[in-house]
Amino acid sequence: MLILSKTAGVFSKPARRKTYEFLRIFNFHPGKPFLHKLVLGIETSCDDTAAAVVDETGNILGEAIHSQTEVHLKTGGIVPSVAQQLHKENIQRIVQAALSSSKVCPRELSAVATTVKPGLALSLGVGLSFSLHLVDQLKKPFIPIHHMEAHALTIRLLNKVDFPFLVLLISGGHCLLALVRGVSDFLLLGKSLDIAPGDMLDKVARRLSLIKHPECSTMSGGKAIEHLAKQGNKLHFDIKPPMQRAKNCDFSFSGLQHVVDRIITQKEKEEGIQKGEILASAAHIAAAVQHTTACHIAKRTHRAILFCKQKRLLTPSNAVLVVSGGVASNLYIRKALEIVTNATECTLLCPPPRLCTDNGIMIA
Ligand code: KG4
Ligand code: ZN
Repeated sequence: MLILSKTAGVFSKPARRKTYEFLRIFNFHPGKPFLHKLVLGIETSCDDTAAAVVDETGNILGEAIHSQTEVHLKTGGIVPSVAQQLHKENIQRIVQAALSSSKVCPRELSAVATTVKPGLALSLGVGLSFSLHLVDQLKKPFIPIHHMEAHALTIRLLNKVDFPFLVLLISGGHCLLALVRGVSDFLLLGKSLDIAPGDMLDKVARRLSLIKHPECSTMSGGKAIEHLAKQGNKLHFDIKPPMQRAKNCDFSFSGLQHVVDRIITQKEKEEGIQKGEILASAAHIAAAVQHTTACHIAKRTHRAILFCKQKRLLTPSNAVLVVSGGVASNLYIRKALEIVTNATECTLLCPPPRLCTDNGIMIA
């Protein structure tokens, strides 16, 4: 709890006033008393302000989320100070909405759980500051949460998954393969040596100016690539998956990003269009980059499964691969992973898309 006492000193008066106001306006009419302990989860590590209430048996009582995607799409990426400001503007409303939809009053909570790392420092600070004021007022315990551990463990809300299991986390900021031996006992098997797959897909989508595409203008980069890829031919461009010879479970995506960048520049010349206009071949490029990303992720995961099986790190009769993070909502990538798990007699589990991307439920 060292982090808490250290951070507690930096709260400003206006933030403190906001929490009082929050507790006062929370117009609660008591209903049935709750039988189980209730945890409020708060997530502000990146560009989503999210909150949810979950009980100790895993029932989701209610949630609320505000996504900043549209704002950041316009600026061509996340500007930390803008993300921080948007979290500040929305956190009170979102927490209040999560509590209201759960029909829970703040005093009925048993604890407040909030993401404390990893993430953008300015964004994390908003959730942490708000939560510490709240627990101070309510005299409730505070539970600091590791964002990646939350992604990895979310599946246990929905399925009975015993430890150990293998987890693949693929998002905009992270890319890792780990053996989950317990709630906070992780053995890291591989990670990206450079950028995360979501970051790469976001950069390719920006380079293709998909924000100007009528069908993709409000989608995140990865979602836009998945959408457009359905209209393209993945074999139109021959792009080799990265790290084919590396005898480990690490990943790399920045080389792939540069290869695609060169293809786009070449195509702009051939089609006689300016940077910033949409290529006629954009769908083929989207299909090829999605296919290469899926192949790379599937091959590295295959290695990790074989390694764990050989070293008896996974139960042979009950080996489970859990895939989560924003990129895990990509159905083409999921299909590629299904081929790997079928071939290795593993069970593949993915939370539904809304629980793959950042949310308050996974924190609660
Ligand atoms: O887990 P997440 O919501 O936030 C973190 O990065 O922690 O993941 C967001 C990332 C973005 O890079 C976004 O482009 C990507 O997930 N993403 C997708 C899809 N939906 C979101 N990537 C591929 N296919 C999708 N359908
Ligand atoms: Zn995340």
